[in-house]
Amino acid sequence: DKNGYDHYMLKEIHEQPQAVAQTINGRLDLELGKINIDNYGISNINLKEIDRIQIIACGTSFYAGSLARYFIEKFTKIPVEVELASESRYRTSTVNSRTLSIAVSQSGETIDTLQAIKFSKENGAQTLAIVNVPGSTIAHNCHDESLIYAGPEVGVASTKAFSAQVSSLIILGLALAQEQKKLSSEKITECIDELVKVPSLLEKTLTLSSYIEKISKKFYKASSILFIGRGQQWFVAMEGALKLKELSYIHAEGYAAGELKHGPIALIDENLWVVCLAPKDSYYEKTISNIEEIRARGGKILSVGTEGDEDLKSISDEFIGVVECSEIILPFLTAVPMHLLSYWIAVKKGTDVDQPRNLAKSVTVE
Ligand code: F6R
Repeated sequence: DKNGYDHYMLKEIHEQPQAVAQTINGRLDLELGKINIDNYGISNINLKEIDRIQIIACGTSFYAGSLARYFIEKFTKIPVEVELASESRYRTSTVNSRTLSIAVSQSGETIDTLQAIKFSKENGAQTLAIVNVPGSTIAHNCHDESLIYAGPEVGVASTKAFSAQVSSLIILGLALAQEQKKLSSEKITECIDELVKVPSLLEKTLTLSSYIEKISKKFYKASSILFIGRGQQWFVAMEGALKLKELSYIHAEGYAAGELKHGPIALIDENLWVVCLAPKDSYYEKTISNIEEIRARGGKILSVGTEGDEDLKSISDEFIGVVECSEIILPFLTAVPMHLLSYWIAVKKGTDVDQPRNLAKSVTVE
């Protein structure tokens, strides 16, 4: 049931506020300023003993993990590695019983992720499945299972699962910080207060849909689009590029903004659009100078920044603004225009949005 939407994907993009609300529901104790670890699904793993984290995933789930890493490391000071499931078994395993290996998978059936998490378990790691589909194979193979409760995702391109995964991993970071006393309860309360704002701010950001539909006309004939960002926004850029490729078959690449001058800047000319993620965060000034470099070489700029940022607007050809908010909330909001942009470009191109060519919802072959 598409609930009045033209495609499942559009419906699922619009379900992001609920998806995040359901993920955080019951796990955040607003009164005590605590994470409710039992409700999170951890009962066998002892979080107090963890001194290293490995996140294993593919595709969009890999980007959710890569993005969340910044928060987990910030909260816990525990080193976090994020590994592509398909590659992780080709390296010598260095995990041990103090390593928490986390398989992040919407379907819970992705064979690469399953094999990789089994490999970590065999080598002695504590394993946690963060999945959307209950009773999945990946969950069966882990010590603990934490559901994200995003609700069924039908569109092949993952959207609401992404934001639910990010919120789940942030909660896990806070749970580790709480158990290992790495953050004061005031600080945890502060983070919880931010997280609970995400659903309503997502709701607000979704109202950008018709504006994004309008500007998508400018991009659907492009043969290639670059996406750049720094820090967490690097992985929002990666997610934007992946979605564009899979839905509209337009070549796209996501890049860390600082890497531009180490090669890809050679691609820039007056025909190339660059989607620049530059909201007001700790890396803002540096990203702005990258945008100026692109502009100086004639590249066309679609920036995604903070509402009312006239400086950014003045150096951009197109501008999409999200509300001013804290760094915990920001990547949730800037991901929305990524999903909507690829959706509307694909609709303009007339591709099969819910079932792009050559793709399957769960990838059960290696
Ligand atoms: C992208 C997409 C894929 C999946 C990937 C992992 O839109 O849907 O990249 O994210 O195949 O799938 P799960 O999360 O089910 O393991």
